[in-house]
Amino acid sequence: MDSTQTGGLSGAPLFENSTRVLALLAQQLDGRVPLVGVGGISSAAQAYSKIKAGASAVQLYTAMVYGGIGLAAEIARGLDHLLALDGFNNVAQAVGIEKDLYQ
Ligand SMILES: Cc1cc2nc3c(=O)[nH]c(=O)nc-3n(C[C@H](O)[C@H](O)[C@H](O)COP(=O)(O)O)c2cc1C
Repeated sequence: MDSTQTGGLSGAPLFENSTRVLALLAQQLDGRVPLVGVGGISSAAQAYSKIKAGASAVQLYTAMVYGGIGLAAEIARGLDHLLALDGFNNVAQAVGIEKDLYQ
């Protein structure tokens, strides 16, 4: 990423770094503050990664430009499926389960 560029950065290039920062915050805060996962989310799998890294909720913007408003429902459905595959009944059970995998 180029920190010298003018204007904002959004979308896919943010995903990895923002997920790592999220996990580091989750490690430090240890559940005391709910975190919102944001940056480069465009799929249920990516939303799930943010949740496992420590997010209690997720936010997306750029992917909606490409995927349309229906993307939110698509991600919610996919997330239900991914949670069920891992044996979880709800998002809360998965929050932060992988936060310690990030350094
Ligand atoms: C055109 C544009 C406008 C935005 N406006 C706001 C805003 O008013 N308030 C805010 O908190 N974030 C705002 N954001 C940040 C997004 O909500 C989001 O945090 C950021 O774009 C990274 O997520 P993304 O990769 O899904 O876009 C804006 C982003 C873009 C691209």
